[in-house]
Amino acid sequence: MKILIINGPNLNLLGKRQTDIYGNRSFEEYLDGLYKQYPQHQIDYFQSNCEGAIIDRLHADGFGVDAIVLNAGAYTHTSIAIADAVRSISAPVVEVHISNVNAREDYRRVSYLAEACCGSIVGFGLDSYRLAIEAVERLK
Ligand code: DQA
Repeated sequence: MKILIINGPNLNLLGKRQTDIYGNRSFEEYLDGLYKQYPQHQIDYFQSNCEGAIIDRLHADGFGVDAIVLNAGAYTHTSIAIADAVRSISAPVVEVHISNVNAREDYRRVSYLAEACCGSIVGFGLDSYRLAIEAVERLK
């Protein structure tokens, strides 16, 4: 399968940022493990801190890949535009969060993306991404 992982704002700082919540591992290190674990899949990765760049990438790959794993970071809680982009493409999109957004501040309980995505995986640390890959394998 062709799977695209998209990370949104501040997720480039994983391993350095609020390590009590997001852990000590960089995403690049975690991704290396994913590549090794799933050699049968073509996994691409894109990170941006810009809403428009995330939308552009959803448009560019959203008709060509088999699935997208999307952690839109804080845009999850604000972006109707990203939600509309998810609705506009043909690839199924799984919403992912490292932390359990439902157990944090009230504003993190709101997801504009959840309704547009085929499912959500939240709260399992970086393992949320692997669980999303396991989930999309079953969509085939
Ligand atoms: C996050 C949760 C968001 O609320 C937050 O803004 C992030 C990371 C997560 O993966 O837990 O940047 O998406």
